Amino acid sequence: MQKSILTLLATLLLFSCNTTESSKNNYVSKTGLITEKAMVVTAHPIASNVGKAILAKGGNAVDAAVAVQFSLAVVFPFAGNIGGGGFMVYRNKDGNATTLDFREMAPAKAHRDMYLDSAGNVIKDLSIRGHLAVGVPGSVDGMIEAHKKYGSLPWAELVQPAIDLATIGFPVTKREADGFNRIRESLEQLNTIVPTQFFKEWNEGDTITHLELASTFVRIRDEGRAGFYEGETAQFLIEEMERGEGLISQEDLDNYHSIWRNPVTSSYKNYNIITMPPPSSGGIALTQLLQSVESFDLKNMGHNSANYVHLLTEAERRVYADRAEYLGDMDFYNVPIKQLTTPAYNKERMESYHPSKATPSDSIGSGNILLESDQTTHFSIVDAEGNAVAITTTLNGAFGSRVVVGKAGFILNNEMDDFSIKPGVPNMFGLVGGEANAIAPGKRMLSSMTPTIVEHNGKLLMVLGSPGGATIITSVYQTFLNVAEFDMTMQEAVNAQRTHSQWLPDVIMYERGALSEEVIKKLEDMGHKMLDRGNIGRVDAVKALENGKLEGGADPRGDDLAVGF
Ligand code: DON
Repeated sequence: MQKSILTLLATLLLFSCNTTESSKNNYVSKTGLITEKAMVVTAHPIASNVGKAILAKGGNAVDAAVAVQFSLAVVFPFAGNIGGGGFMVYRNKDGNATTLDFREMAPAKAHRDMYLDSAGNVIKDLSIRGHLAVGVPGSVDGMIEAHKKYGSLPWAELVQPAIDLATIGFPVTKREADGFNRIRESLEQLNTIVPTQFFKEWNEGDTITHLELASTFVRIRDEGRAGFYEGETAQFLIEEMERGEGLISQEDLDNYHSIWRNPVTSSYKNYNIITMPPPSSGGIALTQLLQSVESFDLKNMGHNSANYVHLLTEAERRVYADRAEYLGDMDFYNVPIKQLTTPAYNKERMESYHPSKATPSDSIGSGNILLESDQTTHFSIVDAEGNAVAITTTLNGAFGSRVVVGKAGFILNNEMDDFSIKPGVPNMFGLVGGEANAIAPGKRMLSSMTPTIVEHNGKLLMVLGSPGGATIITSVYQTFLNVAEFDMTMQEAVNAQRTHSQWLPDVIMYERGALSEEVIKKLEDMGHKMLDRGNIGRVDAVKALENGKLEGGADPRGDDLAVGF
């Protein structure tokens, strides 16, 4: 191994323990880390420092993003991945923006009713656990395409940190140790070949290595796309599929390609919102939510007041109902993007809004809402030139399908559950859908991931996004409003407690402690059902300040860290 890489790694590990840069106490801090020109905010201190090291040696935001994506697959395998997919929103220093869709797709052998029994009933957990839950992974192709178009450093230098971390090892945080210990049983049930590290009892601070994964990254480093979609890695993946009667074939891997797409753009007052189009619902839904509330005096209502939460909820109810009906992969279904993102349409939808009365959601049935929120991960990067990257990437559930490509050391997603497996039947996030998001070969399942970049008066203002399934959209929505309407710093906006509603089930969820007894009572009197829960979202964001500096907002709900220079 090259000496420079060892030095880099030593620095990374040192940084990861350096609490002066950490944001452990973010619930009380008013501002996040302030830097002169560059910032990386991710869900894991080591990944943040990998990104910073790439920027410090002259890499741009896309270079850093590639290195962060791969490092997260090693140090944060809850969600960081090469066996999953995601979305990138990119805005360069001149204000030109694009998006990259590296979402998973359904294998060619997938079909509409593949999770139903002969009587047409959903077979429990078939779309969530095991080999049939897996969509064709997109992350490696996504990173390759992003690098081809915008990268400046050699590919090998961006993959190397992941190899080093996986080979030399790194200390596990408490959260990760608990996560590994929690999934051991389901790994045992679903796999016959699992790298030994997944079977140990882990404690905070133990050093973990991922040697099979390191070999996979060596192939990705040396052979690029072919290092994952062909040759040994592909063979291991297909063998795993055959063993567990999964559907992914070599043809599926050959046919997988990420897609550059025009962003969904809209304005809110003098802010420009640049965000993700389908197959994510996130960008359209965020646009609709903002257009629904733009004409109201939010500031006067007060942050998390009963009137504010009521208004946000009423907008959410209408927008998530549209999501269920109209949103899906636009390469397969004619999504009425233009109409859904027209201000007049959303204003009209709010005509039935009553300032003190809840509009009951049509009761089609309600879902089981997944309460954890660290199974997807978002990171935000701004480089010294002012180029910005927002990436949200996922395996879907924590550790995805729990299927490990043992010989290649990586975990496969369970993204197929994001399709509507039967009209009106809620997925693991309680989201319902129908025709627009029905399963078809080669189709991409609908997402809620909402990587977003915001401009203010034409200049870069914010880079943000979140994990959290259905709550991603509302987490981004509230974080934006916290800055735009309530003048919060980036850190305050990230820290502020959140609420969430999604049409079905017909409830307002709120983070424990987010609302006072009085506010809860008022909302109940308006006719809302209230449900307190744990964390909602985990936003990692960057804000460009008026003095030209940057403020990082790392979410204290996780191990997240902002670093920069
Ligand atoms: O794409 C989506 O919307 C989901 N697969 C995201 C899953 C997620 O955020 C899980 N984390 N809580």
